[in-house]
Amino acid sequence: EYKEPFGVKLDFESGIIENAKKLVRKLSDMKGYYVDEEAYEKLLKEDPIIYEVYAVEQEEKDGDLNFATTVLYPGKVGSEFFMTKGHYHSKADRAEVYFALKGKGGMLLQTPEGEARWIPMEPGTIVYVPPYWAHRTINTGDEPFIFLALYPADAGHDYGTIKEKGFSKIVVEENGEVVVKDNPKWTE
Ligand code: 6PG
Ligand code: NI
Repeated sequence: EYKEPFGVKLDFESGIIENAKKLVRKLSDMKGYYVDEEAYEKLLKEDPIIYEVYAVEQEEKDGDLNFATTVLYPGKVGSEFFMTKGHYHSKADRAEVYFALKGKGGMLLQTPEGEARWIPMEPGTIVYVPPYWAHRTINTGDEPFIFLALYPADAGHDYGTIKEKGFSKIVVEENGEVVVKDNPKWTE
């Protein structure tokens, strides 16, 4: 009844984990996520891939661990940088660790009360995501931003709240600078 241990190879250049389950998120999967709806509709004609996830997941049992890489492509919708959907964990008290491998970006985190934090990430940055914080990653560079995430197998993903309300902050480019500012669409 012991599970079999294994090693798998992660390619640092591409972010691909061998034999992992691949998930693709295109712009069309993210309606309502970006502030500039006009820019969203315009870019939808190309419907670019925003990010890909390579996940190695176990049964949703307490005590077990999953891991996944994310390859988040560079680009913007209007002035807002390409980003992941962002989520709370379904079991909200489950923490997570991210390890940045390539490119440049950061993580936006938020409590259920809407208190936000921005943690810049570059290769070598380890981010601790405490229990209860929603988390979204953002590519602020001009090459793919690649990171590894390790999370409890029973954490799950709760996308609903963020899909509806977003984060209280957005990350945009203004005069060539990365700016974290209040989300104009945010309501308490
Ligand atoms: C997780 C991780 C991470 C995340 C991806 C895609 O809990 O599995 O936080 O692997 O899922 O970076 O981001 P979204 O799940 O928010 O689309
Ligand atoms: Ni997570």
